Amino acid sequence: MRMFGFNVLLVIIAAISPGEAYRILGVFPLNGKSHFVMFDQLMKGLAKRGHQVDVVSHFPLKKPLPNYTDVVDLSGTMPAVLNNMTYDFVKSVLTNSAVVPLLATQFGGELCDLMDHPRFREIIKNPPKDPPYDLVITEIFGSSCYLALGQHFNVPVVGVATCVLMPWTNDMVANPDNPAYIPNVLSDNFAPMNFFQRVKNALSLWKAKWDFNSYSAYQDDKIKKYLGPNSISLREAERNVSLILANSHYSLHGVRPYTTAVVEVGGLHIPQEVDALPKDLQKWLDDSKDGFVYMSFGSMIKIESFPKETLAALYNSLKKLAPVRVLIKIAKPQELPPGLPSNVLTLSWVPQVPVLNHKHVRVFVTHGGLMGTQEAIHCGVPMIGIPLFGDQMQNIKLYVRKKIAVALDHDQLTEEKLDTAFRTVLGDPSYLQAARKFSVEFRDRPMRALDTATFWIEYVIRHGGTNLKSPAMELTWGQTSLLDIYGALFLSVALSAYLVKVIITTLIAIVTGSDISSVKHSKKVK
Ligand SMILES: *[C@@H]1O[C@H](CO)[C@@H](O)[C@H](O)[C@H]1NC(C)=O
Ligand SMILES: *[C@@H]1O[C@H](CO)[C@@H](O)[C@H](O)[C@H]1NC(C)=O
Ligand SMILES: *[C@@H]1O[C@H](CO)[C@@H](O)[C@H](O)[C@H]1NC(C)=O
Repeated sequence: MRMFGFNVLLVIIAAISPGEAYRILGVFPLNGKSHFVMFDQLMKGLAKRGHQVDVVSHFPLKKPLPNYTDVVDLSGTMPAVLNNMTYDFVKSVLTNSAVVPLLATQFGGELCDLMDHPRFREIIKNPPKDPPYDLVITEIFGSSCYLALGQHFNVPVVGVATCVLMPWTNDMVANPDNPAYIPNVLSDNFAPMNFFQRVKNALSLWKAKWDFNSYSAYQDDKIKKYLGPNSISLREAERNVSLILANSHYSLHGVRPYTTAVVEVGGLHIPQEVDALPKDLQKWLDDSKDGFVYMSFGSMIKIESFPKETLAALYNSLKKLAPVRVLIKIAKPQELPPGLPSNVLTLSWVPQVPVLNHKHVRVFVTHGGLMGTQEAIHCGVPMIGIPLFGDQMQNIKLYVRKKIAVALDHDQLTEEKLDTAFRTVLGDPSYLQAARKFSVEFRDRPMRALDTATFWIEYVIRHGGTNLKSPAMELTWGQTSLLDIYGALFLSVALSAYLVKVIITTLIAIVTGSDISSVKHSKKVK
């Protein structure tokens, strides 16, 4: 027993103390808090392991952390996406066919110009030498231009994806994305798919790749502009990624094949130590003896901008929940129409994980963002999902299939439908049971997501960026799909059949003593 304890201690020490401290540059150009929560945990985790971490982001640290430096503070340089998406904006712009062009441009190419920030320009021109960078970590989303920083600093690049890999991301590391059984994250398909679903899935995969590649092409000029004329091209930069950490997990998104260059770290953003709640909120939650409903549409979408009729339906439905109480995260509660029921508390900011971890929480009403719903899954809380765009439809559909959520259509949000949803999730204990069970499954791993990510990042620094890359990188689509082999086989079978026919015809001609043309002729006559 004692020996065992000692071994465990050794393993823990080995896992915590890094072999060597590295200098790592993290570049996160997207001004979205819901994405940054993941990078925040990752970069802080690396700093705590003793690496020297330099970060370029819109979210500088509030409390200083040793070995973590905000080398470029981008806050204020871009319009906020934080609490700045109205319902109308979501409805008009973010239909699924518009989402890819938008990611490649407004949330992609436009962000490349942040390399023009004076502090950033300085780092690009005179990178530190004391010590120099060992690695660049950046988000993989719409701004592929930043992947060129690896070649610029002559170090490997690690990409972090805040959701299941986007169609075009697979091509960066030749990751299998066979649409016969791997659902495209931007569709609402699930495996197993029938023939028509497979057709839809394949077409949406190819269209998304085509759209991204054409709409993002102009980022090539941005690379040349900010990193110099001899820089790597955009598409080369994408293929230069050494490792991709994806915020997915097979317990959630289903089994998919991954090459060694893609590592699933779903739930990495969920902090291990839960922060203490503000005193008044803690008291309100403790006092909610009949339980409470927690509602949030994340850091971007404004609930207060929903149509008046929808909000009226919501008010009526929430009122009927009493004595169950309701906590809603609303950026600007003053913009809500009057008449908020008395069992509802609104706050402009809610520490989500401790709230979802509270013993009185009964259900989470959500837009289906991956980060928030992973937190609910982690804490074992059933959900009511009202998805709006992007991967939210697929997320919620997934949770409905797992029987841990009920889905509502944001276009048809009536009082009656809301009532039914609340009655179902609050009244039927199987939702809570399924959520609890799924929580255990989601957390059951050999290593915490942050430790997995850290291990592979250090691995890439130790062994260089190329040895995780698939040999499929060297093949074309036709070659990996075996089209060339099928073609060659077909040709050789056809050729053999033809040769056999010629030989037989000739033999018959020789045996019967007549000339070949007459054999042919007699066959035709028959
Ligand atoms: C910061 O990193 C350096 C190596 O880069 C290491 O020697 C030092 O101990 C670290 N400091 C802290 C407070 O972790
Ligand atoms: C919100 O977004 C709009 C564009 O959609 C932008 O004009 C505005 O400045 C943003 N608001 C803030 C506070 O950044
Ligand atoms: C990235 O590009 C550089 C030079 O352009 C090359 O040396 C390196 O091997 C590439 N890395 C990967 C992982 O493809």
